[in-house]
Amino acid sequence: MLSLCSAMIQLSILLFITFLMAASAGNFYQDVDLTWGDQRGKTLNGGQDLTLSLDKNSGSGFQSKNQFFLGRFDMQLKLVPGNSAGTVTTYYLSSQGTQHDEIDFEFLGNVSGQPYTVHTNVYSQGNGNKEQQFRLWFDPTTSFHTYSVVWNTQRIIFLVDSIPIRVFTNHEAIGVPYPKSQPMRVYCSLWNADDWATQGGTVKTDWTKAPFIASYRNFNANGCVSGSPGTSCVSKTGEPLNNEAWQTLALDANGRNRLRWVQEKYMIYNYCTDVQRFPQGLPPECKRSRF
Ligand SMILES: *[C@@H]1O[C@H](CO)[C@@H](O)[C@H](O)[C@H]1NC(C)=O
Repeated sequence: MLSLCSAMIQLSILLFITFLMAASAGNFYQDVDLTWGDQRGKTLNGGQDLTLSLDKNSGSGFQSKNQFFLGRFDMQLKLVPGNSAGTVTTYYLSSQGTQHDEIDFEFLGNVSGQPYTVHTNVYSQGNGNKEQQFRLWFDPTTSFHTYSVVWNTQRIIFLVDSIPIRVFTNHEAIGVPYPKSQPMRVYCSLWNADDWATQGGTVKTDWTKAPFIASYRNFNANGCVSGSPGTSCVSKTGEPLNNEAWQTLALDANGRNRLRWVQEKYMIYNYCTDVQRFPQGLPPECKRSRF
Protein backbone atom coordinates (compact mmCIF):
# COMPACT_ATOMS: atom_id res chain seq x y z
CA MET A 1 0.00 0.00 0.00
CA LEU A 2 2.76 2.34 0.99
CA SER A 3 4.72 1.61 -2.15
CA LEU A 4 1.64 2.05 -4.33
CA CYS A 5 1.04 5.39 -2.70
CA SER A 6 4.61 6.57 -3.21
CA ALA A 7 4.51 5.31 -6.80
CA MET A 8 1.41 7.43 -7.36
CA ILE A 9 3.07 10.45 -5.84
CA GLN A 10 6.08 9.91 -8.05
CA LEU A 11 3.86 9.55 -11.08
CA SER A 12 1.99 12.75 -10.31
CA ILE A 13 5.25 14.63 -9.78
CA LEU A 14 6.45 13.28 -13.10
CA LEU A 15 3.24 14.34 -14.82
CA PHE A 16 3.48 17.78 -13.24
CA ILE A 17 7.08 18.21 -14.45
CA THR A 18 6.08 17.04 -17.92
CA PHE A 19 3.26 19.56 -17.88
CA LEU A 20 5.63 22.36 -16.83
CA MET A 21 8.10 21.42 -19.55
CA ALA A 22 5.39 21.30 -22.17
CA ALA A 23 4.10 24.66 -21.01
CA SER A 24 7.50 26.30 -21.17
CA ALA A 25 8.74 24.62 -24.35
CA GLY A 26 5.75 25.70 -26.39
CA ASN A 27 3.84 23.54 -28.77
CA PHE A 28 3.66 24.26 -32.48
CA TYR A 29 0.13 22.86 -32.76
CA GLN A 30 -1.06 25.36 -30.18
CA ASP A 31 1.16 28.29 -31.05
CA VAL A 32 1.38 28.57 -34.83
CA ASP A 33 -0.47 28.10 -38.11
CA LEU A 34 1.20 26.70 -41.20
CA THR A 35 0.21 29.39 -43.66
CA TRP A 36 1.69 28.51 -47.03
CA GLY A 37 3.52 25.81 -48.95
CA ASP A 38 0.80 23.13 -48.90
CA GLN A 39 2.25 20.04 -47.23
CA ARG A 40 5.81 21.39 -47.16
CA GLY A 41 5.53 22.54 -43.57
CA LYS A 42 5.23 19.69 -41.08
CA THR A 43 4.56 19.65 -37.35
CA LEU A 44 6.16 16.59 -35.76
CA ASN A 45 6.61 14.81 -32.41
CA GLY A 46 3.35 15.99 -30.90
CA GLY A 47 4.09 19.63 -31.69
CA GLN A 48 7.67 19.74 -30.41
CA ASP A 49 9.25 20.06 -33.85
CA LEU A 50 8.40 21.76 -37.08
CA THR A 51 10.14 21.44 -40.42
CA LEU A 52 9.82 23.66 -43.46
CA SER A 53 10.82 22.52 -46.91
CA LEU A 54 11.61 24.17 -50.20
CA ASP A 55 11.58 22.69 -53.68
CA LYS A 56 11.47 24.12 -57.15
CA ASN A 57 7.74 24.80 -56.95
CA SER A 58 7.45 26.43 -53.56
CA GLY A 59 8.86 27.18 -50.16
CA SER A 60 6.76 27.15 -46.99
CA GLY A 61 6.05 29.12 -43.86
CA PHE A 62 4.17 29.52 -40.61
CA GLN A 63 3.10 32.29 -38.28
CA SER A 64 2.19 32.63 -34.63
CA LYS A 65 -1.52 32.48 -33.85
CA ASN A 66 -1.08 35.29 -31.35
CA GLN A 67 -0.10 38.86 -31.91
CA PHE A 68 2.33 40.23 -29.38
CA PHE A 69 3.03 43.70 -28.17
CA LEU A 70 6.55 43.57 -26.70
CA GLY A 71 8.11 40.37 -25.38
CA ARG A 72 10.91 37.89 -25.53
CA PHE A 73 10.88 35.38 -28.37
CA ASP A 74 13.13 32.34 -28.47
CA MET A 75 13.32 29.80 -31.25
CA GLN A 76 15.73 26.97 -31.91
CA LEU A 77 16.69 26.50 -35.54
CA LYS A 78 18.73 24.01 -37.50
CA LEU A 79 19.45 25.44 -40.93
CA VAL A 80 19.51 23.79 -44.36
CA PRO A 81 22.68 21.65 -44.49
CA GLY A 82 25.05 21.11 -47.40
CA ASN A 83 24.63 23.28 -50.45
CA SER A 84 22.08 25.83 -49.26
CA ALA A 85 23.06 28.53 -51.76
CA GLY A 86 20.08 30.61 -52.87
CA THR A 87 17.90 29.63 -49.91
CA VAL A 88 16.75 32.01 -47.20
CA THR A 89 15.48 30.79 -43.84
CA THR A 90 13.65 33.43 -41.82
CA TYR A 91 12.50 34.06 -38.26
CA TYR A 92 11.03 37.51 -37.74
CA LEU A 93 8.36 39.61 -36.12
CA SER A 94 6.14 41.84 -38.18
CA SER A 95 3.01 43.93 -37.92
CA GLN A 96 0.74 44.44 -40.90
CA GLY A 97 0.06 47.24 -43.37
CA THR A 98 2.23 49.68 -45.30
CA GLN A 99 3.54 51.47 -42.20
CA HIS A 100 4.55 48.19 -40.68
CA ASP A 101 7.18 47.44 -38.04
CA GLU A 102 9.47 44.47 -38.35
CA ILE A 103 12.35 42.81 -36.49
CA ASP A 104 14.27 40.37 -38.68
CA PHE A 105 16.55 37.40 -38.46
CA GLU A 106 17.29 36.01 -41.93
CA PHE A 107 19.76 33.26 -42.73
CA LEU A 108 21.26 33.42 -46.20
CA GLY A 109 22.47 30.03 -47.44
CA ASN A 110 25.77 29.28 -49.10
CA VAL A 111 27.53 26.61 -51.10
CA SER A 112 28.76 23.55 -49.17
CA GLY A 113 31.38 24.34 -46.58
CA GLN A 114 30.97 28.12 -46.87
CA PRO A 115 29.43 30.14 -44.06
CA TYR A 116 25.89 31.38 -43.76
CA THR A 117 25.18 35.08 -43.41
CA VAL A 118 22.91 36.11 -40.54
CA HIS A 119 21.07 39.19 -41.72
CA THR A 120 19.29 41.42 -39.18
CA ASN A 121 17.13 44.48 -39.73
CA VAL A 122 14.61 46.67 -37.93
CA TYR A 123 11.70 48.44 -39.64
CA SER A 124 9.78 51.23 -37.97
CA GLN A 125 6.62 52.55 -39.59
CA GLY A 126 7.51 51.09 -42.97
CA ASN A 127 11.17 52.11 -43.03
CA GLY A 128 14.03 49.66 -42.72
CA ASN A 129 17.57 50.33 -43.98
CA LYS A 130 19.10 49.33 -40.66
CA GLU A 131 20.89 46.15 -41.67
CA GLN A 132 23.63 44.45 -39.77
CA GLN A 133 25.05 41.11 -40.92
CA PHE A 134 27.06 38.50 -39.08
CA ARG A 135 28.88 35.22 -39.42
CA LEU A 136 28.29 32.60 -36.75
CA TRP A 137 30.94 31.06 -34.52
CA PHE A 138 29.51 27.54 -35.09
CA ASP A 139 28.03 25.48 -37.90
CA PRO A 140 24.27 26.27 -37.73
CA THR A 141 23.35 23.22 -39.83
CA THR A 142 24.54 20.37 -37.60
CA SER A 143 22.54 21.09 -34.45
CA PHE A 144 19.89 23.39 -33.01
CA HIS A 145 20.87 26.83 -31.72
CA THR A 146 18.69 29.40 -30.02
CA TYR A 147 17.91 32.70 -31.73
CA SER A 148 16.15 35.29 -29.60
CA VAL A 149 14.58 38.69 -29.90
CA VAL A 150 13.96 40.79 -26.82
CA TRP A 151 11.62 43.66 -27.63
CA ASN A 152 10.85 46.18 -24.92
CA THR A 153 10.09 49.89 -24.96
CA GLN A 154 13.74 50.88 -24.60
CA ARG A 155 15.60 48.52 -26.92
CA ILE A 156 15.56 45.49 -29.18
CA ILE A 157 18.21 42.88 -28.43
CA PHE A 158 19.13 40.13 -30.90
CA LEU A 159 20.73 37.11 -29.25
CA VAL A 160 22.29 33.89 -30.48
CA ASP A 161 22.58 31.19 -27.81
CA SER A 162 22.01 33.96 -25.24
CA ILE A 163 24.92 36.02 -26.61
CA PRO A 164 23.83 39.50 -27.70
CA ILE A 165 24.84 40.20 -31.29
CA ARG A 166 22.96 43.47 -31.77
CA VAL A 167 21.13 46.09 -29.77
CA PHE A 168 18.79 48.56 -31.45
CA THR A 169 18.15 51.31 -28.94
CA ASN A 170 15.05 53.49 -28.80
CA HIS A 171 16.25 56.87 -30.08
CA GLU A 172 12.84 58.49 -30.51
CA ALA A 173 14.24 61.39 -28.48
CA ILE A 174 16.42 62.30 -31.49
CA GLY A 175 13.70 61.62 -34.03
CA VAL A 176 14.37 57.98 -34.95
CA PRO A 177 11.12 56.01 -35.22
CA TYR A 178 10.99 53.01 -32.89
CA PRO A 179 8.61 50.08 -33.22
CA LYS A 180 6.30 50.45 -30.27
CA SER A 181 2.87 51.28 -31.57
CA GLN A 182 1.84 48.09 -33.40
CA PRO A 183 1.48 44.48 -32.27
CA MET A 184 3.47 41.89 -34.22
CA ARG A 185 3.23 38.24 -35.12
CA VAL A 186 6.16 35.85 -35.33
CA TYR A 187 6.77 34.55 -38.86
CA CYS A 188 9.09 31.84 -40.17
CA SER A 189 9.71 30.74 -43.71
CA LEU A 190 12.04 28.94 -46.06
CA TRP A 191 12.10 30.25 -49.59
CA ASN A 192 14.17 30.65 -52.71
CA ALA A 193 15.95 33.97 -53.14
CA ASP A 194 18.65 32.99 -55.58
CA ASP A 195 18.18 36.29 -57.39
CA TRP A 196 20.03 38.03 -54.51
CA ALA A 197 20.80 35.87 -51.49
CA THR A 198 24.14 34.28 -52.30
CA GLN A 199 27.02 36.38 -53.60
CA GLY A 200 24.59 38.97 -54.90
CA GLY A 201 22.56 36.42 -56.84
CA THR A 202 25.43 34.98 -58.87
CA VAL A 203 25.26 31.59 -57.12
CA LYS A 204 21.97 29.87 -57.91
CA THR A 205 20.00 27.25 -56.01
CA ASP A 206 21.03 23.71 -56.97
CA TRP A 207 17.61 22.10 -57.39
CA THR A 208 19.15 18.63 -57.71
CA LYS A 209 19.63 18.90 -53.90
CA ALA A 210 15.95 19.67 -53.24
CA PRO A 211 13.94 19.40 -51.10
CA PHE A 212 15.81 21.72 -48.74
CA ILE A 213 14.76 21.43 -45.12
CA ALA A 214 15.08 23.76 -42.12
CA SER A 215 14.00 22.65 -38.64
CA TYR A 216 12.45 24.61 -35.80
CA ARG A 217 11.83 23.67 -32.18
CA ASN A 218 11.20 25.07 -28.70
CA PHE A 219 9.39 28.20 -29.76
CA ASN A 220 8.85 30.23 -26.64
CA ALA A 221 6.99 33.52 -26.83
CA ASN A 222 7.02 35.23 -23.48
CA GLY A 223 5.27 38.41 -24.45
CA CYS A 224 2.17 40.46 -24.01
CA VAL A 225 -0.57 38.83 -26.05
CA SER A 226 -2.45 41.65 -27.56
CA GLY A 227 -4.80 42.79 -30.24
CA SER A 228 -3.82 46.39 -29.75
CA PRO A 229 -1.10 48.23 -27.86
CA GLY A 230 -1.92 49.82 -24.56
CA THR A 231 -4.06 46.93 -23.36
CA SER A 232 -2.81 45.17 -20.27
CA CYS A 233 0.04 42.72 -20.61
CA VAL A 234 -1.21 39.15 -20.38
CA SER A 235 0.50 35.89 -21.31
CA LYS A 236 -0.83 33.31 -23.78
CA THR A 237 -2.69 31.68 -20.93
CA GLY A 238 -4.24 34.95 -19.80
CA GLU A 239 -2.15 35.54 -16.69
CA PRO A 240 -0.93 39.08 -16.10
CA LEU A 241 2.75 39.57 -16.97
CA ASN A 242 4.59 41.91 -14.67
CA ASN A 243 8.20 42.26 -13.67
CA GLU A 244 9.34 39.96 -16.45
CA ALA A 245 13.09 40.15 -17.05
CA TRP A 246 12.61 41.05 -20.71
CA GLN A 247 10.53 44.13 -19.90
CA THR A 248 13.56 46.07 -18.72
CA LEU A 249 16.37 43.91 -20.09
CA ALA A 250 19.56 45.80 -20.92
CA LEU A 251 23.12 44.60 -21.33
CA ASP A 252 25.24 44.32 -18.22
CA ALA A 253 29.04 44.52 -18.34
CA ASN A 254 29.30 40.89 -19.38
CA GLY A 255 26.70 41.40 -22.12
CA ARG A 256 28.54 44.46 -23.40
CA ASN A 257 31.78 42.49 -23.56
CA ARG A 258 30.14 39.70 -25.47
CA LEU A 259 28.46 42.12 -27.87
CA ARG A 260 31.83 43.78 -28.48
CA TRP A 261 33.38 40.38 -29.14
CA VAL A 262 30.69 39.45 -31.69
CA GLN A 263 30.77 42.84 -33.38
CA GLU A 264 34.56 42.85 -33.68
CA LYS A 265 34.97 39.25 -34.81
CA TYR A 266 31.77 38.31 -36.59
CA MET A 267 30.04 41.39 -37.95
CA ILE A 268 30.45 41.58 -41.72
CA TYR A 269 28.14 44.50 -42.54
CA ASN A 270 26.91 47.47 -40.56
CA TYR A 271 24.71 50.16 -42.11
CA CYS A 272 26.14 52.55 -39.53
CA THR A 273 29.56 52.46 -41.16
CA ASP A 274 28.36 52.45 -44.79
CA VAL A 275 29.20 56.07 -45.63
CA GLN A 276 28.83 55.49 -49.39
CA ARG A 277 25.25 54.45 -48.88
CA PHE A 278 24.38 57.57 -46.90
CA PRO A 279 26.13 60.43 -48.71
CA GLN A 280 23.96 62.94 -46.82
CA GLY A 281 25.36 61.61 -43.54
CA LEU A 282 24.85 58.49 -41.46
CA PRO A 283 21.48 57.99 -39.73
CA PRO A 284 21.36 59.87 -36.39
CA GLU A 285 21.24 56.75 -34.20
CA CYS A 286 24.62 55.70 -35.63
CA LYS A 287 26.39 58.47 -33.75
CA ARG A 288 25.14 57.12 -30.46
CA SER A 289 26.55 54.27 -28.40
CA ARG A 290 25.84 50.82 -29.82
CA PHE A 291 24.19 49.76 -26.57
C1 LIG B 1 29.49 32.45 -48.94
O1 LIG B 1 30.84 32.18 -48.71
C2 LIG B 1 31.73 33.12 -49.30
C3 LIG B 1 33.14 32.62 -49.13
O2 LIG B 1 33.46 32.38 -47.78
C4 LIG B 1 31.49 34.48 -48.66
O3 LIG B 1 32.34 35.45 -49.24
C5 LIG B 1 30.05 34.88 -48.86
O4 LIG B 1 29.76 36.09 -48.18
C6 LIG B 1 29.11 33.81 -48.37
N1 LIG B 1 27.74 34.14 -48.77
C7 LIG B 1 26.74 34.25 -47.93
C8 LIG B 1 25.41 34.54 -48.50
O5 LIG B 1 26.90 34.11 -46.74
